[in-house]
Amino acid sequence: MTTPATLMATYGRAPVAFVKGEGCYLIDEAGKRYLDAMAGVAVNALGHSHPGFIAAVQAQVATLTHTSNVYRIPLQEQLADELCRRSDMEQVFFCNSGAEAIEASIKLARKVGHARGLSVPTILVTEGAFHGRTLGALSATHNPKYQEGFTPLLEGFVRVPYNDLAAVRAAIAATPELCAILVEPIQGEGGVKMPAPGYVNALRELCDQHDLLLMLDEIQTGNGRTGAWFAYQHEDARPDILATAKGLGNGYPIGACLAAGPAAQVFQPGHHGSTFGGSPLACAAGLAVYKALAQEDLLGNAARLGAYLLERFRRELGATPGVREIRGKGLMFGIELDKDCGELGARARERGLLINITVGNTIRLVPPLVLSQAEADFMAATVITLVQEFCHGR
Ligand SMILES: Cc1ncc(COP(=O)(O)O)c(C=O)c1O
Repeated sequence: MTTPATLMATYGRAPVAFVKGEGCYLIDEAGKRYLDAMAGVAVNALGHSHPGFIAAVQAQVATLTHTSNVYRIPLQEQLADELCRRSDMEQVFFCNSGAEAIEASIKLARKVGHARGLSVPTILVTEGAFHGRTLGALSATHNPKYQEGFTPLLEGFVRVPYNDLAAVRAAIAATPELCAILVEPIQGEGGVKMPAPGYVNALRELCDQHDLLLMLDEIQTGNGRTGAWFAYQHEDARPDILATAKGLGNGYPIGACLAAGPAAQVFQPGHHGSTFGGSPLACAAGLAVYKALAQEDLLGNAARLGAYLLERFRRELGATPGVREIRGKGLMFGIELDKDCGELGARARERGLLINITVGNTIRLVPPLVLSQAEADFMAATVITLVQEFCHGR
């Protein structure tokens, strides 16, 4: 790991730098090609150098990059319409990152809570959650490593184990000031953890029964990643607030907080804002992503290749001693081992593959949604060999 002195050492960086991207491949300074199964941590949905994306962003740069939210921004209105159509939500606030989308979501939930007469509107969050690094998002996140040294965190959160409905019911009974439940439909940073089928639907029902807002963090799972526009659509439990980012801009920084039902029509002028959020350039990027997702059937591709790869990983690795569990939905996989496997990142790079290790012992694969069958096969074969060698101590 190498960090130059003039950069704050916030990241443990691998000793490789890329100079070019082509489709699902990144090319380093020495000209070596790597299949990018990390996609900038689930960001480059269209891969690298996607022609439609380039054309849209180049044309917009040459026309109008930034005006201000003091004025109407027609491209922002178009992208809001498109997002609402695809997510079944009703309103959008645009920002520039995932953490900002969570901040907007927390503020929105608190506003609704205060309007209902709560003095400390409280949000139920889960163990293993990752919602970002700004102070509000960090308070909702559950990782002592990220939180240590940054107290005091925000008050107004209660935490229960993920995928535990009994714990949610108990917390609802014990928390009179509760106003919302915030979860990831699949915990990405937390290890690609999947709740039992029906979990999000059951949370929806509990929210309806107790007059709570259901807030979903679809920053990683949204925008086609799991084979649906949004992961909640596998169950169809529409949230009241939905945060997304990552794949929405394919590398151009953009985030969005979406609202429906009791959370729509709540924010009024002055309640929230962003200088850069929803600029013409950002929205041209988002619109290009959504156009490609639809026209190239990338959700279908994610679903098809996702099912194929999950079956193959389970068939070829399921019985390998040391492999604890293999999880996946669309093009989002977690291969959990029984020991830390951080060294596999470097070993994969030697073989021309970029992977990510999360929570120490889980290989996370989130390749571009434009992945081809041949690329999927290369990714699968390489990962399977790496895991087998690692588990057999070679
Ligand atoms: C589920 C989830 N929420 C929030 C975030 C924070 O997003 P950002 O890094 O864009 O602030 C991430 C980023 O990994 C994420 O995966």
